[in-house]
Amino acid sequence: MEKIVVNGGRELHGEVRISGAKNAAVAIIPAAILSDGVCRIENIPNIQDVNLIAEILQQMGAQVKRIDKSTLEIDPRGIREPVATYDLVRHMRASSYLLGALLGKFNRAEVALPGGCDFGVRPIDQHLKGFAVLGARHNVESGMIKVRADKLVGGHVYLDVVSVGATVNIMLAAAKAEGRTIIENAAKEPHIVDLANFLNSMGADVRGAGTDVIKVNGVSRLNGTTYSIIPDQIEAGTYMAAVACAGGNVLLQNVIPKHLESITAKLREMGVIIEEYDDSIRVIRRDRLRRCNVKTMPHPGFPTDMQPQIAAILTMADGTSIVNEAVWDNRFRYVEELRRMGAVISVDGKLAVIEGVDQLEGAPVKATDLRAGAAMIVAALGAKGTTTIEDIRHIQRGYEDVVDKFASIGADIRLVYTKEPNSVTAG
Ligand code: EPZ
Repeated sequence: MEKIVVNGGRELHGEVRISGAKNAAVAIIPAAILSDGVCRIENIPNIQDVNLIAEILQQMGAQVKRIDKSTLEIDPRGIREPVATYDLVRHMRASSYLLGALLGKFNRAEVALPGGCDFGVRPIDQHLKGFAVLGARHNVESGMIKVRADKLVGGHVYLDVVSVGATVNIMLAAAKAEGRTIIENAAKEPHIVDLANFLNSMGADVRGAGTDVIKVNGVSRLNGTTYSIIPDQIEAGTYMAAVACAGGNVLLQNVIPKHLESITAKLREMGVIIEEYDDSIRVIRRDRLRRCNVKTMPHPGFPTDMQPQIAAILTMADGTSIVNEAVWDNRFRYVEELRRMGAVISVDGKLAVIEGVDQLEGAPVKATDLRAGAAMIVAALGAKGTTTIEDIRHIQRGYEDVVDKFASIGADIRLVYTKEPNSVTAG
């Protein structure tokens, strides 16, 4: 079993390069299925979730070539059967994007019900509602979702909730449909815009991504392309939180400061100094952090995927903070782990009340999911003493070279191997 061991209490100094965005990559790789040529995708993060989705395409018949650590070439023309079985997809939430992409290409798809981080019910009713508007029927048989249309025809979809996944899936299914699809109350996350840009680079006609109305004018054919993925907003936010927790002065390179605005604003409220440049930001923390309240919201609100990391730093802020998780039902499972380190947190439904303590102490903890695991690293870097983090496969799903990157800015962090069996990971 692999564990991460952190000896906390050292300031972070230096520079870190942020990788490509996981949540853009896991939408763009399936989107390549829609193409009738070779897609070269650059700035891909070398992480487990991306490798899994690329492997799924390969096992379905696509040719997937790794050109270098961050570049993939995908030729989807070998995919004959639009079917992704449970064995292929069970570790991945984003495997649901195969539904939209395969439906868009073949007018039918069969994909096993998705897995993913476990923080409450994760329905896909809005995805299916969108497919239905485009003319596809669905049914669930033996754990497989089957969608099928005689032909896909554009229509008007009004999402009941702002859903990243549903917005992506409807864009994928609509890209080659006949006529125009309008998605209202669409998600506006940077990775939605990135997917639209990728589709357009293949010859699609997608407009309005980044606003809450997206219009997709279907085209009959999509070509191969070369495309570079945006930097990872949440990886950057996690390093910002780490500097806020441990103190120090770090330059984050390869970021889009605009995508980080909600995180930057919150950290400034807490007393962190942030300097923004064209494609980098400098994060400096000298004094004790001030308390603040945080409510997660769809973009451009404060991202739910940064909620555990910000909670981790608030455990040592001066005063009492309230964190309101307004996107997911159950995203506070990590709180118990922070309590082992001396954090004082009470949770009531979607609210966590955090009373700042002077100092966290290192302890054995586990990563209960991807961002919860990131929060454990953040807390451990600011804590006194040694923290051992288990179940780190969750972290490796979404953070490229996380141990090396933190070590390069002065963290005392290392990967250790022990002989105990590994626990099960939900992707
Ligand atoms: C994406 O998940 C991200 N995953 C998540 O990041 C992120 O937490 C989430 O968006 C919100 O920003 C990927 O991009 C791969 P949603 P997704 O559909 O698409 C409800 C990480 O840590 N809903 O926007 O699954 C749902 O229950 C991961 O990187 C419906 O009710 O999230 C939730 O309350 C974890 N019906 C809300 O909408 C639906 O059909 C937002 O979910 C779909 C969603």
